[in-house]
Amino acid sequence: MNYNEELKARTLHVNAVIRDYLPEEKGFQKTILSAVNYSMEAGGKRIRPMMMECTWQMYEGRGTVIAPFMAAMEMIHNSSLIHDDLPALDNDSMRRGRKTTHKEYGEALAIMAGDVLLNYAYETAFRSFDALKDAEDPQQLAGRISEALRVLAAKTGINGMLGGQSCDVEYDGRTMTENQIEFINRTKTGALIEGSLMIGAILAGAPADEVRTLEEIGTDIGLAFQIRDDILDVTGNAQEIGKPVGSDERNRKSTYVSLFGVQAGRQKVEKLSENALMKFDSLSVQHEFLRRLLEELATRRR
Ligand code: IPE
Ligand code: IPE
Ligand code: MG
Ligand code: MG
Ligand code: MG
Repeated sequence: MNYNEELKARTLHVNAVIRDYLPEEKGFQKTILSAVNYSMEAGGKRIRPMMMECTWQMYEGRGTVIAPFMAAMEMIHNSSLIHDDLPALDNDSMRRGRKTTHKEYGEALAIMAGDVLLNYAYETAFRSFDALKDAEDPQQLAGRISEALRVLAAKTGINGMLGGQSCDVEYDGRTMTENQIEFINRTKTGALIEGSLMIGAILAGAPADEVRTLEEIGTDIGLAFQIRDDILDVTGNAQEIGKPVGSDERNRKSTYVSLFGVQAGRQKVEKLSENALMKFDSLSVQHEFLRRLLEELATRRR
């Protein structure tokens, strides 16, 4: 299988894992649950759960404990996207090639769908404890699950994605310094990528120093990923990226690209990506597909 075939197969597989954990649309909450699933089933690259499964495979993870964490990570990411698109934040009407959740269901339900999804992510992650009944060493696995839950919550919270998103909107319309932009990119986008790489390895029992290196790789890849996103917001094609072009300019947002230009952005992405790959090669185990995925993100077109 070549890289593109494997990417396709892995995306389908991640979609199937996620689908297993989506809520049933029933009861009085039927409409809000359909709003949740509308967002979750809209496609998307699924890179976070994909990365998580790759580091799990690198350290020879066994069993089913990884699956609820993969779904939970994508749920947290999706809740961030639903809220990110709201009129009070980026005010965007397209996401993944279709109407944003608030355009389809109205603002109130979109706010609630983001909240529901964020909590549902933890309800889902807690289901990982079900794997204890088949575990060879339940106590050891319980320890790994606890650490993975700690990382999931920390990377989502005030020092992670939510902290970054909050500062990002607070600073709309103001010129930021490079340090401020780097802080926002590392938290709003880097944190979930760091968490994804770490959690797969933690659950598989990777040594602590390798988990730390994976976190550093996630930081570099996350920063590069956001700058690439900001480049595509200027040079991309709305059809291809599935969301509007020019959203950052419309929101008078300071980004690495608005500050230093597209060319400098490209150079920065390349440098960060090289750094990440160097660290990746220093790990005790390798994963050919994950290495290529990390490499490809630097020049992605969507
Ligand atoms: C978009 O994330 C938001 C950013 C962090 C830049 P993705 O580019 O991973 O979006 P999907 O999940 O593929 O739609
Ligand atoms: C948001 O960054 C990152 C999130 C954590 C949602 P952007 O606002 O640039 O993401 P897009 O371009 O709307 O996907
Ligand atoms: Mg935003
Ligand atoms: Mg946005
Ligand atoms: Mg963007």
